Amino acid sequence: MFSLDSGSWAHSLFPAVPNVYWGEASSWSTELRLNLKKVRGEHGTNDDLIMSYNTQQAAFAASQQATFAKIEQAISRTDDKGKMPLWDGYDQIPNYATSTGPTSKRKISQVRTGRGICRFYAWLAAQKNPETILEFGAAFGASGMYWLAGLAIAGQGRLVSFEPNELWCSIAHENFELVSDQFVLTAGTFEDNLALVLPKATITLIDAIHTKSVVLAQFELVKQVSQSGALVIFDDLGFSDDMWECWQEVLAAPDISSAWQIGDRVGIVELT
Ligand SMILES: C[S@@+](CC[C@H](N)C(=O)[O-])C[C@H]1O[C@@H](n2cnc3c(N)ncnc32)[C@H](O)[C@@H]1O
Repeated sequence: MFSLDSGSWAHSLFPAVPNVYWGEASSWSTELRLNLKKVRGEHGTNDDLIMSYNTQQAAFAASQQATFAKIEQAISRTDDKGKMPLWDGYDQIPNYATSTGPTSKRKISQVRTGRGICRFYAWLAAQKNPETILEFGAAFGASGMYWLAGLAIAGQGRLVSFEPNELWCSIAHENFELVSDQFVLTAGTFEDNLALVLPKATITLIDAIHTKSVVLAQFELVKQVSQSGALVIFDDLGFSDDMWECWQEVLAAPDISSAWQIGDRVGIVELT
């Protein structure tokens, strides 16, 4: 089903229904509109805030039009650089749901978080006023630029981001600098650099290797470096049956007070 480097890495599982997969509406005018749904818990601390994005997103996008255009231009320029080799850590993952291996390459448009979800991340950062946002992986810097746009609105806080692919990381660094200096980007894995996550995270995005065993192990580490009541975001829930099972296990965890979903793509939990 997956030929080497054919189409988008993230979209390749559902090429016929990308808008459903992304949880984003399909017409041009509402192209980036998200529909956030509560999927677990009573009234969590972040419930009103997260659900309010359903009605605030258009006004927020209008208010940030210039910033978002600047970020998308940076992404276009990065895309023009073409495909670059994947991190060799993917070679260690047997039967990955998309093509990896020494000759596999991707460009930013194939691995980036969609624009609608990126805008939500910027909004969330601006609303939560966090001391630390933790993100892994950075890839070429798309989601990170949007986190930084939100932190710039908040006027404080730091993005602590990790990317073990040194080439991709250097490009992410250049991209981040276009938006803000409120970041620490490390060329390495999250797991090898836990001590850099200080102060403890208020928001974390887990967007790295999409397998249940890897993500559940990372989630345990994220809990160690998170504040109580922190939000943890899981990307690519629909990447494989294994990732969907992963999400079901996260949802059943006893140390989760609430959970939300954006389509079948993104899961958000609030830690107790
Ligand atoms: C789907 S891409 C991330 C896309 C990015 N968040 C964006 O929106 O542009 C996954 C990235 O995670 C990186 N990665 C894989 N394992 C990692 C780990 N343990 N720690 C940090 N980054 C990791 C990969 O090298 C790859 O660049």
